[in-house]
Amino acid sequence: MVLLQYLIIKRMPNQILDISHRGASGYAPEHTIASYKLAKKLKGDYIEIDLQMTKDGRLVAMHDETLDRTTNGSGLVKDYTLDDIKKLDAGTWFNKKYPEKANPNYVGLKVPTLGEIIQTFGRSANYYIETKSPDVYPGMEEKLLNILNKYKLIGPNSQSGKVIIQSFSKDSLLKIHSMDANIPLIQLLSYSQNAEISQNEINNIKKYAVGVGPNYQAINRGYVQKVRNNGLLIHPYTVNDKDDMKKLLDWGVTGMFTNYPDVLRNLIKGI
Ligand code: G3P
Ligand code: CA
Repeated sequence: MVLLQYLIIKRMPNQILDISHRGASGYAPEHTIASYKLAKKLKGDYIEIDLQMTKDGRLVAMHDETLDRTTNGSGLVKDYTLDDIKKLDAGTWFNKKYPEKANPNYVGLKVPTLGEIIQTFGRSANYYIETKSPDVYPGMEEKLLNILNKYKLIGPNSQSGKVIIQSFSKDSLLKIHSMDANIPLIQLLSYSQNAEISQNEINNIKKYAVGVGPNYQAINRGYVQKVRNNGLLIHPYTVNDKDDMKKLLDWGVTGMFTNYPDVLRNLIKGI
């Protein structure tokens, strides 16, 4: 772990991170500018962004490799150019799926590029970015770091902690670490049940990352304590129930991903 990463890890535990998962996606269509704007309004600390890459090599905010669930398009993101994807409606699905939360302003929302998101919020936001399916998108890490450098969110004279990068792919994180060892990285982990993490795994993760992001349902107090005692951050995903949030805070997590940043914010305020 290099100096900047060390400083970040020292600073962050005192601030429990409220990470707006796909924006305030409990209230607005995920990964739209509307969802990110609402996340900021609801006082999330970071907006979480999943990245996919278009046929013409543009990084766009989308969780799935396919367009079907969150737009009126269909097929793989990698088979369409950005121009094609910009013609799609990324909001109407939400109104149909959640009529009680429907908002006419969501109709016709566009899929944003990473650059557009950063242009919208600049340095007023913090970004928690995931490289999705990096095996499908060769070169996505280089493109990501180029964009972050261009907007001075990383690199010389950038403010520490404006960007955290996360991935389930260790290879993707190692690649990023080799390009810029100062970027704080989170190793995402997925457990089927009763998560355990060995000292060997922890020692290995510490070589390139500042923390882990496990699915919250599989972890317990002992897991959290072991990770924290080893000096790693822990940001479980995706926690939407208030009682689950309380339990995890009691166990000592250093932040969590939630679709309801306002609910977590109110709990953090009370600590
Ligand atoms: O990035 C944390 C969490 O978002 C991982 O799960 O599938 O929602 O990206 P997913
Ligand atoms: Ca994610």
